Amino acid sequence: MNALLLVGSPKGRKSASCLLGSILAEGMRKHGAMVSEEFVHEGLRSEDGIARLLDSVDAADLVIFAFPLYIDSLPAPLTRLLERIAERRARIAPAGSPRLAVVVQCGFPEAHQCGTAVGICRLFADRTGMRWAGALAMGMGGSVGGDLKKLPGGGKNILEAIGMASESLANGGAIPEAATAMFAKPLMPRWMYTLIGNFGWRMQLRKNKARRPLTYRPHSQG
Ligand SMILES: Cc1cc2nc3c(=O)[nH]c(=O)nc-3n(C[C@H](O)[C@H](O)[C@H](O)COP(=O)(O)O)c2cc1C
Repeated sequence: MNALLLVGSPKGRKSASCLLGSILAEGMRKHGAMVSEEFVHEGLRSEDGIARLLDSVDAADLVIFAFPLYIDSLPAPLTRLLERIAERRARIAPAGSPRLAVVVQCGFPEAHQCGTAVGICRLFADRTGMRWAGALAMGMGGSVGGDLKKLPGGGKNILEAIGMASESLANGGAIPEAATAMFAKPLMPRWMYTLIGNFGWRMQLRKNKARRPLTYRPHSQG
């Protein structure tokens, strides 16, 4: 089993996507899979980089996209890569290989916000002859970073869901529905996430010496 983790967040190694994807990769390695990791935005900077990404996709039994939700969709660099993969697979594509799984998280509290992006990836797999292997999608991604065990509840649901998914993926299966459901569970009450989020924004305002209030909208019409 040769898996490829493609991190689709422009924040790279500092991203929640990288953290969650890396935990999944580590879990799969424990179950005997070989997993390599690439950063999409870095690879896309040169034609050599793109060629390397495309070759890695061709060589993989399983590709995992780990990305943040951007405007209900995928970050632009990842969309660009999907276009390049589709172009190549229109010429040469072994049907049903590689398999495709995704790990997506978003800033809004609800996991279902990621539904459109998951649908896009699933359709991409269908249209390019890849085999869909399921998704892990969660809301409250703004609170994912550093040590997951410091999250309320010790990040138990996330870790258990990734544990289930990594075992199944490493053994050639898809992400189990129970893992998808567990991963989607809110990390904390909604009011708590909003409170912490608002506090975070105010800290950033202060750090950046922003003098205007957060709600300042100089170009809004009325
Ligand atoms: C340009 C941009 C667009 C975003 N669009 C959405 C969105 O449509 N819905 C949402 O819930 N979060 C949205 N977010 C929030 C990110 O999904 C969220 O901050 C995520 O945790 C970032 O993950 P990362 O650390 O892997 O980059 C957006 C963030 C950015 C920068």
